[in-house]
Amino acid sequence: MPWHRKHFLTIEELNHSEIEQVLATTGAFRRILDRKVKKVPALRGKTIVNLFLEPSTRTRISFEMAAKFLSADVISFDAASSSTTKGETLRDTAQNIQALNADMIVLRHSASGSPLYLSKLLHIPVVNAGDGAHEHPTQALLDVFTMQEKLGSLKGRKVVILGDILFSRVARSNIHALTKLGADVTIVGPATLVPRWFESLNVKVSHHLRTALADADVVMLLRIQHERQAAGHFPSVGEYTSMFGLNQARAEWIKPDAIIMHPGPINRGVEIDSALADSPRSVILEQVTNGIAVRMAVLYLCAGGQPEHVTAPVE
Ligand code: CP
Repeated sequence: MPWHRKHFLTIEELNHSEIEQVLATTGAFRRILDRKVKKVPALRGKTIVNLFLEPSTRTRISFEMAAKFLSADVISFDAASSSTTKGETLRDTAQNIQALNADMIVLRHSASGSPLYLSKLLHIPVVNAGDGAHEHPTQALLDVFTMQEKLGSLKGRKVVILGDILFSRVARSNIHALTKLGADVTIVGPATLVPRWFESLNVKVSHHLRTALADADVVMLLRIQHERQAAGHFPSVGEYTSMFGLNQARAEWIKPDAIIMHPGPINRGVEIDSALADSPRSVILEQVTNGIAVRMAVLYLCAGGQPEHVTAPVE
């Protein structure tokens, strides 16, 4: 099936075959990135604007690197020095970027649904780089790509997502991706941050860490999203850590060959012990590296590329 989507908004809207297509395209770009000559001419002549209206390190830089490796020109919008500080709306900002002849917008925004909103307003492709607590689709794809590299097929594999699920766009996108790929997903944390209604997304809900970690092939940690939640979801950060922080002693509850993941940024000593984050079981930095190939795949496909046409440069 040819790739037909112009925008890249959510994992929820993708079917199994589309997820596999993006992952296959990612694999092709990953092999190119392992070569001496990383740059391909696929998006030469295109201009991509990274419109990040929320802080980011990994996503913004990897989208920028991805665009450059595809030979696109890339402009990273500086929110602090932009006219949004004078009250310009998202709609006006995006329409002006389109009027400046940008070919694609990569949007990060605190409002859930903002990429969908822009996709209906603009005629150029819009890529979601994280919208509120809704979705972070490229993060989920780099996560499942990393899991597949380590474990092979995810069918029947047990993935435990631990932490602030309620406010996490990473959790939502991963739940959609992992369940579509046949993984067995358990979410765990305090009841206030891991409500029962998530069971409607075909995942198991647990509030008991030791039970949830048993037999896990993957343990994915999430930080507390302080920027999205009002106070009162747990008594204090210290108490959260004492109940649900992953430390060396609790890591003994996990199978020795299980991998530990985190989308970043890490709050060391809160959701994960520093030594554990840096241990050989951690694939956190491999996730970051894979983010470039995933984002190359997404930009390439949204620009009209087809998975089977990705070719390696001559070295
Ligand atoms: N994982 C992630 O989205 O990190 P950044 O906020 O640094 O982009």
